[in-house]
Amino acid sequence: MEESESGRGVASATISNGIDDGANGVVAEGDEEQVVTPWEVAGKDGGKIDYDKLIVQFGCQKLNQNLIDRVERLTGKPAHPFLRRGVFFAHREFDKILDAYEKGEEFYLYTGRGPSSDALHLGHLVPFMFTKYLQDAFKVPLVIQLTDDEKCMWKDISIERSQYLARENAKDIIACGFDISRTFIFSDFDYVGGDFYKNMVRIAKCVTFNQARGIFGFVGEDHIGKVSFPPVQAAPSFPTSFPHLFGQRKDVRCLIPCAIDQDPYFRMTRDAAPRIGYLKPALIESLFFPALQGESGKMSASDTSTAIYVTDTPKQIITKINRYAFSGGGDTVEKHRKYGANLEVDIPVKYLSFFLDDDAELERIRKEYGAGRMLTGEVKQRLIEVLTALVVRHQKARAGVTEEMVDAFMAVRPLPNMYG
Ligand code: TRP
Repeated sequence: MEESESGRGVASATISNGIDDGANGVVAEGDEEQVVTPWEVAGKDGGKIDYDKLIVQFGCQKLNQNLIDRVERLTGKPAHPFLRRGVFFAHREFDKILDAYEKGEEFYLYTGRGPSSDALHLGHLVPFMFTKYLQDAFKVPLVIQLTDDEKCMWKDISIERSQYLARENAKDIIACGFDISRTFIFSDFDYVGGDFYKNMVRIAKCVTFNQARGIFGFVGEDHIGKVSFPPVQAAPSFPTSFPHLFGQRKDVRCLIPCAIDQDPYFRMTRDAAPRIGYLKPALIESLFFPALQGESGKMSASDTSTAIYVTDTPKQIITKINRYAFSGGGDTVEKHRKYGANLEVDIPVKYLSFFLDDDAELERIRKEYGAGRMLTGEVKQRLIEVLTALVVRHQKARAGVTEEMVDAFMAVRPLPNMYG
């Protein structure tokens, strides 16, 4: 029998999903537990997400320093700040990817985006920035799935609008700097079929409705489009879904960088893999990027005051940070000088820990601000500089992305330089 894949769901003791390999439910009973599914992220009692608990709930591993050191040794490059600072904090069999790489075996990267809005916010950039680093550091091919079908099924978006958004989002993704000689971007509406569809059917036959209900929390009122979707997101985990890249090879490992809310899809995928003769995909999983108002979940794509968008102007960034970024500083300057800032809840410091590259400067800010010698206004000022530079750089890069480039990234073609 296959080893257990998904650990204990919060309510797993009471959800019998009929699976014998441990893919237990993640859906909370009552509202006192935290809930994390691909479409709902809510902390216990409206509070922060408890990530340690999530690791236990989901049954993934904590990404420890030993693995980070190994990445540095194997790639000969410093680890990305997202690794050094625990933004990517959990994994499934990432060690096996490193073992394979060490032996000279090939692997590929797979990530994706559900195109639900025109403009991406900073949280959306996190997995792509990290995936670009992985692609550069390991020199491996990458497939990027745009789930335009998913967003039609979950949101009130027409097929045409979703396809339009997928293409617009592809431009933002390309602007992150991916290497066209190693990157294939595809939209589900355009690409699903052929060998990809065969894998979907193989996967679908491995998962009962009861299991899907346990993993994703589907209810009887959900339309069957939702229930049918998980194999679409699972299929890119297998190399034979991309015959133009890997031919019929089944032995190329897959590593998926994603936010941890995507874990249910890949728990399901990993349970199915050995039953249909495939390797299980490995995962490297990130925290959620917190809203400006504070850390109790993901940012909202519909409320523009909760996030910084890659389309924001420098002026909007100033206003948003100064007006909305939740501060852990003291109520008055006197109190702040006396007690210092509460860094645990402070959003400017949190954001800097994602996007300020300089470790020494970050440490100095934490120390000075935490001790009350630095004021909130000064920290916010530094954050405004950092984010403005990032956003302006992104906007420049995106303005340079032409329709022809999008076509070129999305063309079904062999990649000339996959492992060069
Ligand atoms: N479901 C994801 C979203 O809504 C998109 C996605 C598809 C994805 N495949 C993925 C994300 C693989 C991470 C990894 O954004």
